[in-house]
Amino acid sequence: MMKRTAVFAASLLFASAALATQITDIQGISFQSPLAGQFVQGITGVVTAKDRYGIWIQGDHSDDPRASSGLRIYGGAATRFTKVGDLISISGRVAEYRSAANNLFLTEIDYLTSITSVSSGHTVKPLVLGVDRIPPNNQLSSLDVGHDGWLSIPNNVTLLESVNGTLRPEQYGLDFWESLEGQLVTVKSPTAANFPDRFGSVWVYGDWPTTGKNARGGLTIHINGTDDVPPAHPEAILIGRPLDATRNPKTVMGAKLGDITGIVTYQYGTYSILPLTAPEIVEVPDFSVPPTSLNSTSHPCELRIGDYNVENMSPRSHHITKIAAHIAQHLHTPDILFVQEIQDDSGSRNDGTVSANKTLRALADAIKKASGGVQYDFANVAPEDNKDGGQPGGNIRVAYLWRPEKVSLIPGVTGDAVTSTKVVVDDDGNVEFSYNPGRIDPMHAAWEEARKPLAAAWQTASGDRFYTVNVHFSSKRDSSSAQGDARPPVNGGSERRMSQANVTATFVDSILTLSSSASIIVAGDMNEYAATRAVLRPLQALLHDANDVADVPPAERYTYAYDQHAQEIDHIFVSDAIAKRGGEVEHVHVNTWARSVGERASDHDPTVLRLWVCDADGKTDVDGPVDELGADHGQIVL
Ligand SMILES: *[C@@H]1O[C@H](CO)[C@@H](O)[C@H](O)[C@H]1NC(C)=O
Ligand SMILES: *[C@@H]1O[C@H](CO)[C@@H](O)[C@H](O)[C@H]1NC(C)=O
Ligand SMILES: *[C@@H]1O[C@H](CO)[C@@H](O)[C@H](O)[C@H]1NC(C)=O
Ligand SMILES: *[C@@H]1O[C@H](CO)[C@@H](O)[C@H](O)[C@H]1NC(C)=O
Ligand SMILES: *[C@@H]1O[C@H](CO)[C@@H](O)[C@H](O)[C@H]1NC(C)=O
Ligand SMILES: *[C@@H]1O[C@H](CO)[C@@H](O)[C@H](O)[C@H]1NC(C)=O
Repeated sequence: MMKRTAVFAASLLFASAALATQITDIQGISFQSPLAGQFVQGITGVVTAKDRYGIWIQGDHSDDPRASSGLRIYGGAATRFTKVGDLISISGRVAEYRSAANNLFLTEIDYLTSITSVSSGHTVKPLVLGVDRIPPNNQLSSLDVGHDGWLSIPNNVTLLESVNGTLRPEQYGLDFWESLEGQLVTVKSPTAANFPDRFGSVWVYGDWPTTGKNARGGLTIHINGTDDVPPAHPEAILIGRPLDATRNPKTVMGAKLGDITGIVTYQYGTYSILPLTAPEIVEVPDFSVPPTSLNSTSHPCELRIGDYNVENMSPRSHHITKIAAHIAQHLHTPDILFVQEIQDDSGSRNDGTVSANKTLRALADAIKKASGGVQYDFANVAPEDNKDGGQPGGNIRVAYLWRPEKVSLIPGVTGDAVTSTKVVVDDDGNVEFSYNPGRIDPMHAAWEEARKPLAAAWQTASGDRFYTVNVHFSSKRDSSSAQGDARPPVNGGSERRMSQANVTATFVDSILTLSSSASIIVAGDMNEYAATRAVLRPLQALLHDANDVADVPPAERYTYAYDQHAQEIDHIFVSDAIAKRGGEVEHVHVNTWARSVGERASDHDPTVLRLWVCDADGKTDVDGPVDELGADHGQIVL
């Protein structure tokens, strides 16, 4: 090929510049280039990839793994003038670019002054991740200081780009991926960690050490030992839009993909690999989700509790039948259901309706149909119109459904939207609630624009009492990217959840003060990980995580998947009295294991818990499991 040169701007600036600049000099060994803002010339590299807006080139490696040998050249001229495999020499301005304030910078040449094609037909050997370089698998940044690592509070105490530290790629995920910025890499035999995101990008990890890998192949947020900090899964990388305009496949958690080769870059708040072409799915996991093994027993003191965020359910929701089938077939119709996100009878229509009687009736009817006859009663307290957050007009709230042959509410008056139920002692010295069910401290500032918790006092058919609280804490909206500038990353709503956990725990504490051996179950969507101890500490200090009671392996504790993480944001906590009698827990992955996002019934998985709520340790009285047909027809012998 003939040597061609294009000069885009006068090169007066370079009159005194003699030496060619290496790409590794431009990238440097810190987050930002030591040459940012300067004009450089004689940068040589082979074109490894192109998109509409520019190209990537790769030059000689240096001995220092911190300095990347790849570089983004921004500008349509570069795209038009070169093709992949060309060895080119360019001059231009070094820049640090980001599209939004909380992102990290990408080092690039943003203004080309000249470009020379020296020769063509070169190939660049991709760096093989997992062989040539291995991603660290614990924390993202040395700046994520605090007991909970990347989940520590306070957050946003440092801005990574202001510190502009020297890279430590052996230890920290952001440093690792930054040290490969612009380079061509290969991920051999990747596994997908989740469904694609809404842009079709897919989180994967390769054949290298991971933490928290669950049996499905996802990566679960967890703490491994009390002194540990929760790993942030920096060993997973987002596969962005393929550079040849092919489409990424519709992945699922645990799907195995063909090898991926592409360019490491940073975009939309996350390090990514832009694949040269879309990978293929080579293997998918088994889509049949086993039902719970925790069946009913006939003993009145042994209860099965289900917890399920049913995602904006209204009487006309199409997903009612799917949810009802999950409850019947996968959860085997638990004795009590804690549900969240029950909308009012008019759904998201913003018409002043607050009652959810029709919604709950529709759900109970659908379960009856799906189970061949199991009847649930239900209770909830309607919120004030549009005062509890969520979809405008939807008035989501928490609610209970229960099987009246197994348990009943202690007779009492149902509370209203604004009145707090109180823990009181009746004439016989039994603990009960002034409203049953009733909301906990609904006028407390913690619940502004949030769902109020619903407390209930119950009795078993044997007359034993126990207490429950169903919660739905504020969401993580307004969080910053885990791979953004703010360190530790901003955990949106964490202060509200901390305060909500405190108010909930204060109520539980008032039961325990009157009766330290009370059987209490607090469950629901807490929108927070157990690993964010700073937020859930009030509950963790007072109660036991049911997963710990049941010894669920840390990696199998998940009810949700977001980004590269399988995660548990729905929790069940139990009091000492219950914990010491033991219990069993199963997270039933009907939704995180779905074939596609569209086939899910909800964005959360339900959980089933089997426990013992009576004082007497009558465990020896337990009969064998009753057959479900008998149970379904209410023929349990009490
Ligand atoms: C970032 O760090 C590098 C290396 O120490 C330094 O050359 C560069 O000037 C720094 N950038 C800024 C904006 O401080
Ligand atoms: C916890 O650490 C142990 C020992 O280091 C390891 O074998 C186990 O796989 C870890 N668990 C998780 C969930 O990563
Ligand atoms: C909903 O059901 C409750 C309990 O049966 C009842 O008191 C209330 O009047 C009902 N509300 C509406 C709007 O039907
Ligand atoms: C983090 O704090 C800085 C001020 O130090 C602020 O400018 C920035 O917006 C904050 N980031 C987020 C995501 O809230
Ligand atoms: C709730 O917060 C207050 C004020 O910080 C604190 O004194 C109290 O101990 C907390 N209660 C619980 C149950 O964590
Ligand atoms: C639970 O009940 C179901 C449905 O009746 C039955 O198929 C299953 O074998 C039972 N499982 C156990 C562990 O008893």
